[in-house]
Amino acid sequence: MSTKPVAVPSVRERKRHRGGEPLVMVTAYDAPSARIVDEAGVDIILVGDSVANNVLGYEDTLHVTMDDMARHVAAVARAKPRALVLGDLPWMSYHLSVDEAVRNAATLVRAGAGAVKLEGGRARLPVVEAIIRAEIPVMGHLGLTPQSVLAMGGFRVQGKSADAAAALLDAAKALAAAGCFAFVIEGVPDVVGAAVTEAIDVPTIGIGAGPACDGQVLVFHDLLGLGKGTPPKFVRRYAEVGRIATEAIAAFAEDVRSGRFPSDDESYHGPAGLGDALA
Ligand code: KIV
Repeated sequence: MSTKPVAVPSVRERKRHRGGEPLVMVTAYDAPSARIVDEAGVDIILVGDSVANNVLGYEDTLHVTMDDMARHVAAVARAKPRALVLGDLPWMSYHLSVDEAVRNAATLVRAGAGAVKLEGGRARLPVVEAIIRAEIPVMGHLGLTPQSVLAMGGFRVQGKSADAAAALLDAAKALAAAGCFAFVIEGVPDVVGAAVTEAIDVPTIGIGAGPACDGQVLVFHDLLGLGKGTPPKFVRRYAEVGRIATEAIAAFAEDVRSGRFPSDDESYHGPAGLGDALA
């Protein structure tokens, strides 16, 4: 595996139809998870606003602030990963004005992100153009955009009608022309994922968007069985780390309560006679 840091231009080139290997992106929100994900050899670490549900205990991503995102991006960056660190711009950080959006994107870069991601279609064109003019690479995010949960009336698969799919395709083309270096395509029928991938010259990274995308992303906690409740259909669990962790902590509790922990080997010992001097 190459040890060269992953940079935006090499991600932009990774179209499967041009022979590029599929891109692998996984979320991480802190230094230990970033180290695990990076040692596994992923291409991109997404410091997603899904930190809301997976770490901060919220029901949706609307509660995450710029301070939260900057803190988590900085924690991931301190792990010094080889993978590209992608900082997610949270809700309301790019909705009020173009200037504020550029300033917030720069805050994530100064925290350690090599690029930023933001959600939405054509309405985001002015913001995307301005952030790119400030020399900050932008990844788009189309389809099921969790920051639109209220407008969508829940977390629902998008692009199911011909009109909705055409609008999504049109947005992808416009944002790609504006300079987005890649896109997350989330929660759309597989044929829509395939059509967007075919229509644009930059990579698509799917999550619940079928196998034709140029790469795939999963959330760390979903992939490892650390999430709560039943995961969505598109999640494949590769381990049950949550169950293993609970079993380990229950074993520790049992050892403490039964006096088996700590053992003599797990205790410090003073010089001979110290005990007698204290008696
Ligand atoms: O925040 C996140 O985890 C995301 C993924 C769902 C792509 O945006």
